[in-house]
Amino acid sequence: MNFKNTVLVAIAAIFMISCAETKKEEMKALKYVDEPHSYAQPNEAVITHLNLDIDVNFDKEVISGTASYDITNNNEATEIILDAKNLVIENVQADGKDTKFSLGTYNESLGQSLNITIAKDTKKITVFYQTTDKTEAVQWLNPQQTQDKTQPFLFTQGQAILTRTWIPIQDSPQIRITYDATVRVPKELMAVMSAENPKVKSENGEYHFKMAQKIPPYLMALAVGDIAYKAVSNRTGIYAENSMVDVVHEEFSEMEKMVVEAEKLYGKYAWDQFDVIVLPPSFPFGGMENPRLTFATPTLIAGDKSLTSVIAHELAHSWSGNLVTNATWDDFWLNEGFTVYFENRIMEALYGKERADMLGLIARQDLDEEVEGFKDAPENTHLKLDLSKRNPDDGMTSIAYDKGFMFLKTLEGIAGRENFDVFLKNYFQGHAFSTMTTEKFIKYLNENLLEKHNLSFNTDEWVYNPGVPSNAFEIKSDKFENVSNTLKSIVETNKVDASVVKDWTTQEWVYFIRNFPEDITPAQMAIIDNAFDLTNSTNSHKAMVWYEQAIIHNYKGNNVDTKIEEFLIRVGRRWYVSTLYKAFAKAGKTDEGLAIYKKARANYHSVTMNTVDETLGYKE
Ligand code: BES
Ligand code: ZN
Repeated sequence: MNFKNTVLVAIAAIFMISCAETKKEEMKALKYVDEPHSYAQPNEAVITHLNLDIDVNFDKEVISGTASYDITNNNEATEIILDAKNLVIENVQADGKDTKFSLGTYNESLGQSLNITIAKDTKKITVFYQTTDKTEAVQWLNPQQTQDKTQPFLFTQGQAILTRTWIPIQDSPQIRITYDATVRVPKELMAVMSAENPKVKSENGEYHFKMAQKIPPYLMALAVGDIAYKAVSNRTGIYAENSMVDVVHEEFSEMEKMVVEAEKLYGKYAWDQFDVIVLPPSFPFGGMENPRLTFATPTLIAGDKSLTSVIAHELAHSWSGNLVTNATWDDFWLNEGFTVYFENRIMEALYGKERADMLGLIARQDLDEEVEGFKDAPENTHLKLDLSKRNPDDGMTSIAYDKGFMFLKTLEGIAGRENFDVFLKNYFQGHAFSTMTTEKFIKYLNENLLEKHNLSFNTDEWVYNPGVPSNAFEIKSDKFENVSNTLKSIVETNKVDASVVKDWTTQEWVYFIRNFPEDITPAQMAIIDNAFDLTNSTNSHKAMVWYEQAIIHNYKGNNVDTKIEEFLIRVGRRWYVSTLYKAFAKAGKTDEGLAIYKKARANYHSVTMNTVDETLGYKE
């Protein structure tokens, strides 16, 4: 090589090295995107592992102890910032020695930043803290609020930004940590977490947990109560209060089959164990996908497995959400839309296309109602949201769920199921244990599905525009056609042919009830009630939609008012109770709703309280 070439090669090499350096810098800097709902600056310094050591004190209703983190300093930072809300921070140590810390200004939804001084080479920080009576994630229940009525109960709810109210943490869905925990509870009780769990009570009330896979902080979860375990298979099972163990076990006896079908679709279950704990009725959600241990409402126990699609939904989150996680709450549809689609596929695999189509059509109807409800604020109907100055809870509407579902269902229709399944499986496996933004997903979609198969698709319209695009896949259900005809004939003739409804499933009942004409009269509702005894239905979903109609149409038969009040006081599932309070408001009966709410409110978890306070304009 002559001199000139040597110089050229050297220059090229220097250029390449410096490019690689800038690339590295850029990659480092771009690792975490801006996230408006966390004070953490993970590009500066980030937590990687949590060691939690806490006491759960039911007498004082306080959790206290230490949260120790392994940290990585990404940018020679001199502080690490955690999120904290309504916690007492007693002391902080860096590598075992007291260090300076300060709390920032309090924000109503975000809480405070906890700024901790570190050295460039600090490896570990330890926060000594306690919860307070304003800790929103935790609900402390007295024995009367449980099924068995003998022991108190506690559960936490982390999503979206409540983990910071019971653990000081970098509470952004982009961050992933493994964790170990030691939890001390009264010895009559068992503690379980979103981790490897005990199957029997310990002698002294001390429990040790390990979560070996990296999870985002919103999936940290704890429940404590007088509960027992019963296995469904060698990797699935249920926890419930003693008197419910057998019924719950029977209701969810198809958990293993669900996991098998889910794995066939999108690859191996990544979390080893899939258990469900049925909580007391104030639990604010149908289900919550805490890894290894889904938290569920007892309202799913219908006696005939008819409401188990919620379990399929939470299981589906083991891929969409827990494995591939929305990077920010603006991308929430990537968690929920994919999960509703996947849930529908699991239900189809287990129970056939007819059932899946009914569920799909109910989702479509929810979506249309939600779009209509947002007609004065259409930006709320975009898949990708801008929640930067709002509470992430505002994004928890049917849009993320059902428009997200329709988007994927439409894509499936265009690409063909086989291609679409290959695409989705690669998407989940290729991004396992990492986070996803809407933009990154669209790029992936273009490269791996649309361009690959030469397809054109109005992705941007679906994601960034309001409403439902006109190419939405049309879901049809013969079963629901029949239901519509039956309903039509009942309201036209005021006569009921009970034989027609003999084999109706819960989904058909729900569709029937929800589609009452606006001018249905209380007398017509009485005919229906007397024939089908809907007021006394023990199926929570059927009862809920019936109560909604009773409120809206002033139906008073069969003591339905008493039933509604009893339901609203006992159950805290947000979707159910907020539907009923909204019905009171819609019917111009806010006062009636408020009168019940005043009796029920103390029984609700904070997320349900916040929603209903707003619906009814309630002020403490
Ligand atoms: N992850 C959600 C619950 C959630 C969302 C909690 C946002 C807090 C903030 C869970 O998977 C869910 O979607 N639950 C639904 C059930 C489902 C079948 C639609 C529910 O609770 O109704
Ligand atoms: Zn979900």
